Amino acid sequence: MEGQVQSEGTAGAVAVRTATEQDLAAVAALHVHAFPGSVLGELGVEAVRRSYKWQLTGPHDLTALVTTQDGTVTGFLFGGVFRGSTIGFVKAERWFLVSRVARHPGILLRGVGWKRISLGLRLLLRRSQTAVAEKPDAVPRRSFGVLAIAVDPTSQGQGLGAILMAEATTRATAQGFLAMHLTVHPTNVSAVAFYRSLGWVELNEPNGSWVGRMTLALDVDADADADAAAEQDPA
Ligand SMILES: CC(C)(COP(=O)(O)OP(=O)(O)OC[C@H]1O[C@@H](n2cnc3c(N)ncnc32)[C@H](O)[C@@H]1OP(=O)(O)O)[C@@H](O)C(=O)NCCC(=O)NCCS
Repeated sequence: MEGQVQSEGTAGAVAVRTATEQDLAAVAALHVHAFPGSVLGELGVEAVRRSYKWQLTGPHDLTALVTTQDGTVTGFLFGGVFRGSTIGFVKAERWFLVSRVARHPGILLRGVGWKRISLGLRLLLRRSQTAVAEKPDAVPRRSFGVLAIAVDPTSQGQGLGAILMAEATTRATAQGFLAMHLTVHPTNVSAVAFYRSLGWVELNEPNGSWVGRMTLALDVDADADADAAAEQDPA
């Protein structure tokens, strides 16, 4: 339900709708505010905008949502099934990223999140230019991945995150997904509390440790599930 008013926040009625390319500048600015330590953010708001543009226009099965209040974007969620969410971005924007890193060389020395981007850049810039096989992340079968969710710091704690997650859950269920998954930094205790409050549970590694993976089982109609399984395995 596009643009439907969901609730009244302090800044006016909250609507949730599909994000468009026109929203990306606002999404990028919001990302920089909501993730102050983000390595991508250190490369500038334009680098962040280009990374979300890749998620929006790349070969993904994407659900991109924004909440708006009085026309202003106050939150966003990007989720679905991603094909090369990082390496594809690095490939598409390699020269832009190289120029940004040249201006901020210190960034190469820090940041866990930077590892994948810098590895991608190093591989892409090898003189041999040999094609590099992409190793996709292990993705649970028929699970909807939440790549990013954030609410503007001035609007947090007013139910917007819950509205975004409810809409994503509804759409993922309608698309036939059986579960949702995400990775949160284990020290981001407020986000972990947020996910737990919505029914998400921690997913332990085979060795029993927890490195931030969480999952939510979707309330799938048993008949629809049987139909989907039969379609996948007609034998
Ligand atoms: C995490 C985030 C998206 C939550 O959005 P939000 O709009 O602030 O959350 P809501 O107001 O919808 O909260 C829903 C429920 O989550 C729980 N919750 C939210 N923030 C919480 C906190 N800081 N501590 C404990 N519980 C919290 C509460 O149970 C809350 O329900 P209640 O208000 O009825 O008690 C938002 O805080 C955010 O953008 N954080 C920064 C970016 C980030 O860390 N994103 C997640 C990366 S994995």
